[in-house]
Amino acid sequence: MARAELRFYLNGEPVHVAGDEAFLTLSEYLRQRRGMTGTKIVCSEGDCGACSVILGRPAGGTIRYESINSCIHFLHQLDATHVVTVEGLSRNGALHPVQQAMVACHGSQCGFCTPGFVTTMASLFEQDEGRRTQRLTEEELRDALSGNLCRCTGYVQIVEAACSIDPASAPRMGELYPDKAMAAQLAEWSRDEVRVEGRDVEGNELLAYLPRTWEAAAAFKAESPETLVVAGATDLGVQRNKGRIAPRRILGLANIDGDDEVRIEDGVLTIGARATWTAVERAIRTILPDYHRILLRFGGPQIRSAGTVGGNLVNASPIADSLPFHFVTETELELVGTGGTRRVPIADFYLGYRKTALRPDELLRRIVARLPRGNEVLRLYKVSKRKNLDISTFTAAILVRLDGARIAEARVALGGVGPVVLRLPRTEAFLHGREIDEETMREAGRLARGEITPITDVRGRAEYRARLAENIFVKFYHDVAAEHAHAAV
Ligand SMILES: Cc1cc2nc3c(=O)[nH]c(=O)nc-3n(C[C@H](O)[C@H](O)[C@H](O)COP(=O)(O)OP(=O)(O)OC[C@H]3O[C@@H](n4cnc5c(N)ncnc54)[C@H](O)[C@@H]3O)c2cc1C
Ligand code: FES
Ligand code: FES
Repeated sequence: MARAELRFYLNGEPVHVAGDEAFLTLSEYLRQRRGMTGTKIVCSEGDCGACSVILGRPAGGTIRYESINSCIHFLHQLDATHVVTVEGLSRNGALHPVQQAMVACHGSQCGFCTPGFVTTMASLFEQDEGRRTQRLTEEELRDALSGNLCRCTGYVQIVEAACSIDPASAPRMGELYPDKAMAAQLAEWSRDEVRVEGRDVEGNELLAYLPRTWEAAAAFKAESPETLVVAGATDLGVQRNKGRIAPRRILGLANIDGDDEVRIEDGVLTIGARATWTAVERAIRTILPDYHRILLRFGGPQIRSAGTVGGNLVNASPIADSLPFHFVTETELELVGTGGTRRVPIADFYLGYRKTALRPDELLRRIVARLPRGNEVLRLYKVSKRKNLDISTFTAAILVRLDGARIAEARVALGGVGPVVLRLPRTEAFLHGREIDEETMREAGRLARGEITPITDVRGRAEYRARLAENIFVKFYHDVAAEHAHAAV
């Protein structure tokens, strides 16, 4: 029988939640229901990091901790996890070394952003390989703190504080909260199917179902078109906080067994739809450095630790950062429904602006991409107004198979230039068989302009996007030439 309450740990204490509380965001629950006001809410959109908490999930007999935004994370996503808030970092009245460093280096003025910085910085002393031995560097902090904004202190003192911490003094979460028994309990809870019911303020019935299998998930989805599938909620949480959606019948993917991993075998990259971007980042760092480079510009660390690959693909935004890579690697998507599974080439999955080929009972289960081979060169591009934590204006992937200096095959995908991500068949055909030189790529760019239909919006004018599409080919040429020149030295 399905369990009728959520079970998780909060700062080491077991918590059982049923009824309407299960449908709150974590930041609402902490502040309104638990009086834990250390966690702040500023933007409610995952942009500022003031609401950051540390989330522990069971991982192979232990617990893996990462920083997430509690303002866009629902309680029903927390079953079988351990939440550590800023209040949970100082034990027995003693400040955590990160908090001490912030005091010593004057890292806080109004203090509104401080709990978010502190929790995110504390999470940086977690790593899979055991205790960290090196001090944090300014360079790694630049990415690690890209999801945290401070409007008054300025970043110099905050970075100084983080760099001053002796890693030997910074406890891992497993030391603050011994994790053996807790990990076993979380693993046990995560084997349960959960069905929680409640009512909203207007008295409407609410239901959150967390199945264990994709088959049960598909059956539940098929029962009603009202069903809202929730994975990491980094898209849905924002929509709910802006009042665009008021979900009543939720299918949560949190307790499904498997498909949260990334595998690389025989030149094939298989990503479970439930895998977070942080899991992808860890898996592809060395094997796909260009994809890894783009991922470091994907949201901030808190977004990447919650947001999933499946959510990005099904959300079907033409500027989703992952899509151009999957178009040029001719990725296949494994969909699961009540009648079994089917594989769909990614180019057939997108039917129009934010419209996919998913049937009412179907879910995305796996993403299967062929990795570039030795004679294939791949470059990915993201253009946005800000470097960090910004939505793309334009994205591109160019993959060419080289036979000496000749292009044996070219695949090009552009995002932000039409209602869906586009492959450019005429430009690809033009490149086929030609020498790779600057003039060829310049001409390819001119052709590409004719294959796209960009629009003007808040992120850029149509002409700007058309120029980006044209110029990216010359940039690709110089990047590739530079790489080859570098390799020849
Ligand atoms: C501050 C911020 C920064 C961001 N930065 C970027 C960025 O740089 N680049 C970028 O591309 N995106 C960005 N995003 C968007 C978002 O983080 C990603 O799209 C993310 O991958 C969504 O995954 P999720 O698991 O959170 O999806 P959810 O919000 O849980 O779901 C998104 C959609 O997918 C559906 N869905 C999810 N999983 C499945 C499944 N397995 N089967 C069927 N349907 C499913 C849901 O029903 C919903 O319609 C950002 C978002 C925020 C808030
Ligand atoms: S309140 Fe700004 S990210 Fe949550
Ligand atoms: S200390 Fe005021 S916003 Fe950072």
